[in-house]
Amino acid sequence: MMNQHAKIKRPLAWVTGASSGIGAALATQLADAGWHVVASARTLEALDRLAATHPSITPLPLDVTDLEAVRSAVAQIHHQHGDIDAAVLNAGDYKPMALADFDVTLFEHLMRVNFMGVVHGLDALREPMCQRGSGQILITASVAGYRGLPLAAAYGATKAALINMAEALQPEFKASGVHLRVVNPGFVRTPLTDLNDFAMPGMIEPHEAAQAILRDLHKTNFEISFPTGFVFVMKRLRNLPYALFFPLIRWITKK
Ligand SMILES: NC(=O)c1ccc[n+]([C@@H]2O[C@H](COP(=O)([O-])OP(=O)(O)OC[C@H]3O[C@@H](n4cnc5c(N)ncnc54)[C@H](OP(=O)(O)O)[C@@H]3O)[C@@H](O)[C@H]2O)c1
Repeated sequence: MMNQHAKIKRPLAWVTGASSGIGAALATQLADAGWHVVASARTLEALDRLAATHPSITPLPLDVTDLEAVRSAVAQIHHQHGDIDAAVLNAGDYKPMALADFDVTLFEHLMRVNFMGVVHGLDALREPMCQRGSGQILITASVAGYRGLPLAAAYGATKAALINMAEALQPEFKASGVHLRVVNPGFVRTPLTDLNDFAMPGMIEPHEAAQAILRDLHKTNFEISFPTGFVFVMKRLRNLPYALFFPLIRWITKK
């Protein structure tokens, strides 16, 4: 008979981009909900601050653009903490870019962090999770990946690429018992959106974004998107024919 005082193991989450914004809010809410969270980002001090208030958060500094470092981090997590139940590949960067400021290095940088950073995570997680045949991987993309939007050529392309890649991989992951899912937030108030000098409809706070993710964590559907109203509009926009899409975008951005 099981000792009724036996310690029940906490489920294990790995969150990248956990030093601020959505990732930090999610890490703390997961910890509050009884998860053990390994929190990754480049800024160790910020991760240490999270761990100081939440003992079940373990900082693991990491640059997601470094494939070998990502592989070592995942191996270290397995070795020290066991199987990952939920990996949230959330690290990302953003900068708006007008045509007049067309910047090849920005395209390269955002692709390296937002897209290749996730590819590196998938590379490291694929084998152990598929062999085990359980768990989920969440990729933070964006509603900006639904369609090309003004000033978001460099950023939006990375998010569209993530959604496309996840759609392509989902069936094989599912056949192996692993749920690959995308998280598509609308506007969330973080250091990234602080760079925008235009109106951001439906803006929510990081803790609300984290709540929305946590609420759907027990599900297995492909997409977690929020906030509802803004996502509804963005999904209608996604299905509009170009003859309506471009005039509408012109009208919205001229206001
Ligand atoms: N805010 C929004 O409205 C919004 C909307 C849709 C999607 N998103 C996505 O949500 C995710 C989180 O963004 P956020 O809005 O919460 O912004 P944020 O507060 O700036 O968080 C970005 C996180 O990514 C980490 N990061 C950046 N480059 C990294 C690298 N090379 N290696 C490891 N970590 C790195 C940052 O930490 P360090 O600098 O310490 O490394 C930070 O923890 C991003 O993927 C973003 O594209 C945001």
